[in-house]
Amino acid sequence: MTPTEHKNWTKSSWQKFTALQQPTWPDQEAVDKVLTNLALLPPLVFAGEIRSLKQLLAKAVTGDAFLLQGGDCSENFAQVTAPNIRETLKVLLQMAVVLTYAGGKPVIKVGRIAGQFAKPRSSDTEIIDGVELPSYRGDMVNSAEFTPESRNPNPKFMLKGYNMAASTLNLLRAFTRGGFGSLQRVQAWNQEFVAHSPMGRSYDRLAKQISHAIRFMETIGISSEAPQIHQTELFTSHEALLLQYEEAMTRMDSITGDWYDCSAHMLWIGERTRQVDGAHIEFLRGVHNPIGLKLGPTYDIDNVKRIIDVINPDNEPGRLTIITRLGMKKVEKALPPLLREMKKEGFNIVWSCDPMHANTYTAKSGHKTRNFNDILSEITCFFETHWSEGTVPGGIHLEMTGNNVTECTGGAHNIVDEELAENYMTSCDPRLNAEQSLEVAFQIADMIRS
Ligand code: PEP
Ligand code: CO
Repeated sequence: MTPTEHKNWTKSSWQKFTALQQPTWPDQEAVDKVLTNLALLPPLVFAGEIRSLKQLLAKAVTGDAFLLQGGDCSENFAQVTAPNIRETLKVLLQMAVVLTYAGGKPVIKVGRIAGQFAKPRSSDTEIIDGVELPSYRGDMVNSAEFTPESRNPNPKFMLKGYNMAASTLNLLRAFTRGGFGSLQRVQAWNQEFVAHSPMGRSYDRLAKQISHAIRFMETIGISSEAPQIHQTELFTSHEALLLQYEEAMTRMDSITGDWYDCSAHMLWIGERTRQVDGAHIEFLRGVHNPIGLKLGPTYDIDNVKRIIDVINPDNEPGRLTIITRLGMKKVEKALPPLLREMKKEGFNIVWSCDPMHANTYTAKSGHKTRNFNDILSEITCFFETHWSEGTVPGGIHLEMTGNNVTECTGGAHNIVDEELAENYMTSCDPRLNAEQSLEVAFQIADMIRS
């Protein structure tokens, strides 16, 4: 198929295109059974919610809102527990407060959560000590353990993924709507292990100021029961990688007649699957969700323009977020020509910075890691480049967790290579821990203070 053949979209038209990074399922009949089942299950999110996210993202195009997107590189079924979900939410809420206070504009909170269960891999197989097995492709496909049984793709994991996403989302909705996310509780989001750190203390000072402001409002008779104070909103997102699953979750909205992928509010296209004539672009062009597009340093400008023409032909603001992941060494050279050209074309884009994926290296201890200063230098360069090009730095995309992990080096506690083994929990890429995440928020706050 060529791009000109991107014509009549249906939720299964991607099947005529080449789909990279798909599992090789051993039993096609079992797959079909799961997909039929999934297609009958209730949607996880609703079209109306997806539309409100798109409207908010439209504001991030012009700099009237800021996108904070973050969560695990890869969620694990075994880690879907109330404390884990709560701790991730807490850090996202803390970061959002820090950024809102500094930037004086709404922060759109989008988790890499409730569905981030499928991973692209650099190779189909992995060889350890001469044994070759299929690569781990995320909990929705197979299991991480290096045994033939674990690595065998099991389509039932797609159903399990749906159920895990549903229970995660259920708890998130309860937390965000039921008072946990109320600004009146802003001080309670500081975790114990963060509270006594320099970041925790800075946060505590800020939280106290907000509490004072709310008390002042109440004193003069403005109710703090307003939903803006009492409730918060967290949207969900994941990489739309497993196209069979995404197709099964795609439904027509009864109000508008438009198609929405109801597995999450926002979906992104990974660096490895953004071929303009590929199945992922074909699938995502037809659903009306906000779409993220990851761009690495080897991007080709004409190719990017062609992708944009296919994904956002009407130049609808909020539809497309470009998530650059260029690396601290390359960002300074690679970002300006891209911004210039897209500005010249007049494309409406939310520009978001993923400072994680091009800053990965292997530590002496053998752990895959990222250094806090590298992450920060890509972020800083991202903001400065946008400001000098007259474009809008609209968001940040992080791999992070609310837990006290030791996966990225550096930060206020200066985690060193030798300490990575202490609490290295990720089954995929290294995440910022709660304190490092908060530190990123404070650093950005310093840059955007209005
Ligand atoms: C990711 O976000 O986990 C990922 C694999 O990113 P990228 O597609 O940018 O490499
Ligand atoms: Co990752």
